[in-house]
Amino acid sequence: MSKITAAITGVGAYVPDYILDNEELSKLVDTTDEWIMTRIGIKTRHILKGEGKGTSYMGIRAVNDLLEKTGVDPTEVGLVICATVTPDMFFPSTANLIAFQTGMTNAFCFDMSAACSGFLFALNTAAQYIMSGMQKKVVVIGADKMSAITDYTDRTTCPIFGDAAAAVLLEPSTDGYGILDASLHSDGRGAQHLYMLGGGSLHPSSEHTIREKMHYVHQEGQTVFKAAVSNMADVSVEVMQRNNLGSEDIRYLVPHQANMRIIDAVANRMGLPSERCMVNIQKYGNTTAATIPLCLWDYEQRLNKGDNLVLAAFGGGFTWGAIYVKWAYDGATMHK
Ligand code: UT7
Repeated sequence: MSKITAAITGVGAYVPDYILDNEELSKLVDTTDEWIMTRIGIKTRHILKGEGKGTSYMGIRAVNDLLEKTGVDPTEVGLVICATVTPDMFFPSTANLIAFQTGMTNAFCFDMSAACSGFLFALNTAAQYIMSGMQKKVVVIGADKMSAITDYTDRTTCPIFGDAAAAVLLEPSTDGYGILDASLHSDGRGAQHLYMLGGGSLHPSSEHTIREKMHYVHQEGQTVFKAAVSNMADVSVEVMQRNNLGSEDIRYLVPHQANMRIIDAVANRMGLPSERCMVNIQKYGNTTAATIPLCLWDYEQRLNKGDNLVLAAFGGGFTWGAIYVKWAYDGATMHK
C-alpha cells in the first residue's frame, strides 16, 4: 500500500473591508508612510470594525469560501483546528464556534496557540491525523483579530498588525503530494521579548491590568527581529537540505509576513529571487496566524500541481519552523 500524505486541496480566506492606511495611522501616532514602508514594508492593513465581531466572524467567512470553492460537504469534515492568539474568548474554542456556524457538525475542534507560527504548528498536527488514516478531511484555520490587542497609541507596534482569516482543507494523497516534512521549534526564553501579559490566570483582567496596558501586545522589536531572521533562515535551509532541495527546485518560499526586511533576508539565505517569494505584507500587514494561508490564497492561481513550497514562520514564544509542501493541484482551475 502506498504511503498516505496530507495534501492541501483548497484554500479560502476573508479580509475585512475597512482599510487602515499609513496616512490615517500617522494621524493616530507620530509616524510616517516613509518610515513604515522603509522599516517594515506595510502600506495598508484591514481592520475588523463593528460590535460583536470577533475572530470567529472572519474564520466563518474564510471556511465558507473554502467549502464553496472545494464543493466539500461540511458534515464530512472530521477535525477543525484554529490557530489563533485572539480567540473570541478563552472557551469554547474559536474552532468550535466556526465549525458550528459553517455546518461542520461532525468534527472535533480545538484551538492552537503558537502566535505567528500557529498555522504551521496546526498544519503539521492536522497532517498527522490524515497520515495515520484517522481522518479523511481536516480544516486548518489561521485567524487573528490583532486590532483587538493592538495599542493604537504605541507607534512601535500599531503599524505592524492587521486582521484576517484563511483556511485550508487537508485530504489524503497516495501520490506523494502535500506536507512532506516539518521542522518546528519552541524556546521559552523568548517569552520575555514578545507577549501579552493581561487577561490570563497570572494577571486576570482588572483595573490595574487595563491601566498598565497589559491587554496589548508588547515586543522588543530589535531582539525579535534578529531572532526571526536567524531562526527562520536556519530552519528553512535545514528543510531544504534534508529534502535535497536546491534553490532552483523551490517554486515559492511562503514566509510569515512580519517585516519585509525579514522576508528578504530569509529568501536571500535560501538563494531565492524575489519573484519566488510570496509577499502580501504591503496590503495586509502582519495578521499573525493568518499570514501564511493568506499568501497561499493570494497566490493560488499561480500555483501548479507538483510545485515545491517551503512555508516558514517565526513568532511569540518564541516559536518557529518550516514545512515542505508539494502542491497538489493547479490553482487556476480553482475559481475565487
Ligand atoms: O510576527 C511576530 C514576530 N515579530 C516580528 O518579527 C517583528 C520583528 N521586529 C521588527 O519588525 C522591527 O524591529 C520593528 C518594525 C518592530 C521596528 O523596526 P526597527 O528598525 O527595529 O526600529 P527600532 O525599534 O530600532 O527603532 C528605530 C527608531 C527609534 O527611534 P530612535 O530611538 O532611533 O530615535 C524608534 O523610536 O525608530 C523609531 N520608531 C518609529 N519612528 C517612526 C519606532 N516606531 C516608529 C514609527 N514611526 N512607527
